[in-house]
Amino acid sequence: MKINNNVILITGGATGIGFALARAMCENNRVIICGRRENKLIEAKKSLPKINIKKCDITSKTERKELLDYILNNFGGLDILINNAGVQKPINFALGNNEFIDNDFEIDINFKAQIYMTSIFMPLLLKSNNPSIINVSSGLAFVPLSNFPIYCATKAALHSFSISLRHQLRNTNIKVFEIMPPYIYDTELKDGKINLEKPPFGMSSEEFAKIVINSLTNDKYEIGPGGTNDLSNVIKEDFYKKFDMMNK
Ligand SMILES: NC(=O)c1ccc[n+]([C@@H]2O[C@H](COP(=O)([O-])OP(=O)(O)OC[C@H]3O[C@@H](n4cnc5c(N)ncnc54)[C@H](OP(=O)(O)O)[C@@H]3O)[C@@H](O)[C@H]2O)c1
Repeated sequence: MKINNNVILITGGATGIGFALARAMCENNRVIICGRRENKLIEAKKSLPKINIKKCDITSKTERKELLDYILNNFGGLDILINNAGVQKPINFALGNNEFIDNDFEIDINFKAQIYMTSIFMPLLLKSNNPSIINVSSGLAFVPLSNFPIYCATKAALHSFSISLRHQLRNTNIKVFEIMPPYIYDTELKDGKINLEKPPFGMSSEEFAKIVINSLTNDKYEIGPGGTNDLSNVIKEDFYKKFDMMNK
């Protein structure tokens, strides 16, 4: 895909991986980032004056519609939708504590909202000359980490959805990519605390963004550096043969 002269929306683009992608693409594209916390969006705009910011909670139907109207009114369309926003919560069912259901529920943010975003922006993408949908899943879609049981399940669901969407859109111009990050240490995902020191494994959001941009440019549809592609390949070897048989 071509990564210049596009209108690009990055959900959750004020921090972490989304911000690193915004930084890598904002010189040659018109980039809009959204998120719930206005202070984070303003901070992001201070460090990248070329980006455009719009407060939006992607789980809210009203706010999604406001975001769509903002993009239509200010940019006239959308070429690339990056479904990046996500949350991760440790949940231990053995404690019999179901409080998580009242909080930022991962199913709503990590899975349902991605589908609603895809659906509401589809008419604009279908009109674009260089359209793409880029879903951010995780290596944990393939091998769950049991501390985060709902998170891992939402990412596995997003992986499955991405495969079906790619297949359904195969006769349109829309390319469907899936980014499957390994551990990226300098983001707010874990407890909102950014770790700036490189751990023994994983990579920085800046290193990761470089690999992602290079892979997108080369139309690599499943982007999983740092071992993630190996995890998914273990499961996939037989999968695509069966998938192709079932989805002629
Ligand atoms: N870091 C890793 O190791 C890793 C590994 C695999 C996959 N991932 C995935 O990568 C994506 C980005 O995560 P990250 O690591 O960069 O963490 P991050 O820094 O916490 O970024 C997540 C962003 O999502 C936004 N967000 C959360 N809920 C939202 C909502 N309802 N509406 C709009 N925006 C929302 C957050 O902003 P607000 O709170 O202001 O809304 C935040 O800016 C996530 O999907 C994550 O699951 C990360």
